[in-house]
Amino acid sequence: VLVLLGAGGVGKTTVAAALGLAAADTELNTALITIDPSRRLRDALGLRKPGLRPKKLSHARLCAAGLRPGARLSAVMLDVKAMWDDLVEHLNGDAAVRQRILANSFYRRFAEQFAGSETYAALEQLYRLDQEREFDTLIVDTPPAAHALEFLDAPARLTRLLNTRGVHWLFKPPRTAGGLVRLAGQAARLVAEQLEHFTGSAALSHATDFFSTAGQVIGELKDRFDRIAGLLSAPRTKFVLVTTAEAQRLAQTRRLIGELKARRLCLGAVVINRFADERACSALIDGCVQKPLYLEEIAALCELISEPPPITSGMRKLIEYLYGYREQTQERAEQIARFARDFSGEASLVLLPESPAKMNDLRGLFGVAGMLTDQHKHERHA
Ligand SMILES: Nc1ncnc2c1ncn2[C@@H]1O[C@H](COP(=O)(O)OP(=O)(O)O)[C@@H](O)[C@H]1O
Ligand SMILES: [Mg+2]
Repeated sequence: VLVLLGAGGVGKTTVAAALGLAAADTELNTALITIDPSRRLRDALGLRKPGLRPKKLSHARLCAAGLRPGARLSAVMLDVKAMWDDLVEHLNGDAAVRQRILANSFYRRFAEQFAGSETYAALEQLYRLDQEREFDTLIVDTPPAAHALEFLDAPARLTRLLNTRGVHWLFKPPRTAGGLVRLAGQAARLVAEQLEHFTGSAALSHATDFFSTAGQVIGELKDRFDRIAGLLSAPRTKFVLVTTAEAQRLAQTRRLIGELKARRLCLGAVVINRFADERACSALIDGCVQKPLYLEEIAALCELISEPPPITSGMRKLIEYLYGYREQTQERAEQIARFARDFSGEASLVLLPESPAKMNDLRGLFGVAGMLTDQHKHERHA
């Protein structure tokens, strides 16, 4: 099980898809759970609409991307609302209770609007696929808005929520009208306090009804969230952190590595994405941090274009650009080298270049997957 974590926009979804192709190509039956694929990635994976079960990519599609004939890859785009409904429908016990929860307007708003609901839905989907054991490898992308820690703490947070005293009180059906009003107020406050970003404005009576109905399945839910937490900390689950090379992002990633350690979760790899271009990237991978040759070429090149004087303003701009490029690349390379020294030995560290042309079709992504796995193998040998 691979769980992708990182700030929004760093390339989690893209890297998840690349890892999916890499795993599939080793003939592991692979499922990819994506959350917010870009339109082009969606098309590339043949994902028309959100769903609950991963669908097989056709043999022809995988072969066209360059994967070996035995490759098996399925992908799904998370359907948050349907996932919650399905969770409720699969609860044990009274069918009337389940129907009552599903029809409750507080519940419906909760499933759609609560900021963390995507996170929980993703975890639920991961948990189910893990239980079914149909796939050898599961790769899960995380929601765009979710803070990485929110994802890690989600199951424990829900269990805690269900354990608080206020909740137990809430889940007891009210006996008097006065009790009902107090209960409704309490429900609203509890939701506001515990589920920070919840913005629903469903009538309080719906909230009350929801809590008293859901009270009958609280034990089962708690048990489920505990088991999801167990899956995240199982030795077979590895976290892949995705970051870019800016100093601030690298610092964030260092903190996140610490958080994983503190929670005894297993870090599999750190992917530094969008580092300069392919040439700079391979120079760095080959260990030429101090003096990447092609960067040294820039000075000579600039002299060449400014000979003989005078130079035009266009040329001046070009020269400025080249020097700027050199400085930025050098700076990032040094930052990454420092990061790598601090990081050494804990997990794989891989670099991916900025290569927009490759990121939106399967063949390109499979090439990216090759870069990921080659660096990993190279590191193991070293
Ligand atoms: N190495 C890269 N080079 C060029 N474009 C990239 C690269 N990695 C990601 N992108 C692009 O950046 C955008 C955001 O990537 P995405 O994987 O959706 O990020 P996230 O899931 O972390 O929000 C997408 O359009 C993707 O194609
Ligand atoms: Mg994403």
